[in-house]
Amino acid sequence: MKILVVGSGGREHAITWRLANDPVKHDLFCAPGNAGTAAIATNVDVGAEDVAAVTAWARANNPDLVVVGPEAPLVKGLVDELSKIGIPAFGPVASGAKMEGSKRFAKEVMDAAGVPTGKAEVYTDPAAAKAALAKFGLPVVIKADGLAAGKGVIVAETTAQAEEAIDDMLVANKFGSAGAEVLIEEFLDGEECSILAMTDGETAVLLPSSQDHKRIFDGDKGPNTGGMGAYSPAPVVTDDMLPEIKEKIILPVVRELKKRGTTYRGILYAGLMITPEGGKIALSGSKVNVVEFNARFGDPETEAVLVRLGGSFADALLHAATGRLKDEDIVVKDEVAATVIISSGGYPGSYEKGKVISGLDEAAKTGAIVFHCGTKMSGDDVVTSGGRVLSVTGMGATIREAVDKAYAAVGCISFDKMFYRKDIAHRAFDRN
Ligand code: AMP
Ligand code: GLY
Repeated sequence: MKILVVGSGGREHAITWRLANDPVKHDLFCAPGNAGTAAIATNVDVGAEDVAAVTAWARANNPDLVVVGPEAPLVKGLVDELSKIGIPAFGPVASGAKMEGSKRFAKEVMDAAGVPTGKAEVYTDPAAAKAALAKFGLPVVIKADGLAAGKGVIVAETTAQAEEAIDDMLVANKFGSAGAEVLIEEFLDGEECSILAMTDGETAVLLPSSQDHKRIFDGDKGPNTGGMGAYSPAPVVTDDMLPEIKEKIILPVVRELKKRGTTYRGILYAGLMITPEGGKIALSGSKVNVVEFNARFGDPETEAVLVRLGGSFADALLHAATGRLKDEDIVVKDEVAATVIISSGGYPGSYEKGKVISGLDEAAKTGAIVFHCGTKMSGDDVVTSGGRVLSVTGMGATIREAVDKAYAAVGCISFDKMFYRKDIAHRAFDRN
């Protein structure tokens, strides 16, 4: 198949890598890709968010499938445009991507579908929002409705913090139009995990569970990032939860969207909170609650999940994109995986770019897979070009083996001010 992958991060490198490892060879392209995808596909000089340019490339080159990585082009309607010219695309249309683009919309759909989630109310008036806080108790969660690059959620421990968050969004417009509406949400107690469900708008198949590490420092300290590591599976998700997640969370959402006229095709990513034994049960009465939905593969979860899939990934994606998805399309290997993100020093704040990366060949020899997140070529050198730079995945029979393999490869790599967490998968180890 001729396949275009849209995006330029570790997720897109992992998608491209997995396609390159299919039983049959594909003709692979990335728009715009990075230094990692350049080694296994043809990078095309088209920005991922440039809907018109990606559509023009597709019209001219007629791929069998376009796989859209990031949320921005989905929200902007790239898949709608591709469908107008008859090109199958993996990813939801804009009305489906709204599950990620608007937290208010996602809550509305969940409520209509009876999906367990934190109880929330929506406000545009700061005084009314503050008056409502007392009902929720503490801690309480304040969220901007729209996309705010992961920064629009404040878990407030005190009323003063909650009021400040409300003022930031509704008075100071700190998040622009994304914060023109705020949600006040019940705090959910527990451990988070990610379930990526592949759906063709009718049926769904759950990919293996995973867990992200959102904070920058070891022990889950410091500011939130795009994700500093992941591992799969996440033991907090027990096998008995999986049918419940599919039947009570994923499929009801897919059906509710269908009822509203949206055939959702692609990944429906459920960020879930699992309440521990003895933890505070949410108002929904369920131990498994949705924290958020995303309309795409997670990053870095994808780098830990896709390496565990066997079979033909292109067929699975094409079947989902064209309404023919079957359980057999997803084959999961026994090996487990752990992914360590290497970032630029200073991230998620400001950081420098253009640092020469050394040791990539040595790292590859360890057997781990080095996915590129924010890199580019500068002459013969691979240099840093983003906050998250590399995503290093190890696999093994046990999580210990997978983690050790990933860190052995990380140890080969160096660049000025490089940073990474040393405790990836600590929650899996804490359980043993
Ligand atoms: P979101 O962008 O909705 O995923 O929120 C970002 C992060 O805020 C989540 O990954 C959680 O760690 C935290 N969070 C969001 N909503 C809640 C909630 N209702 N209860 C507890 N933590 C939450
Ligand atoms: N890893 C979190 C996300 O992809 O949104």
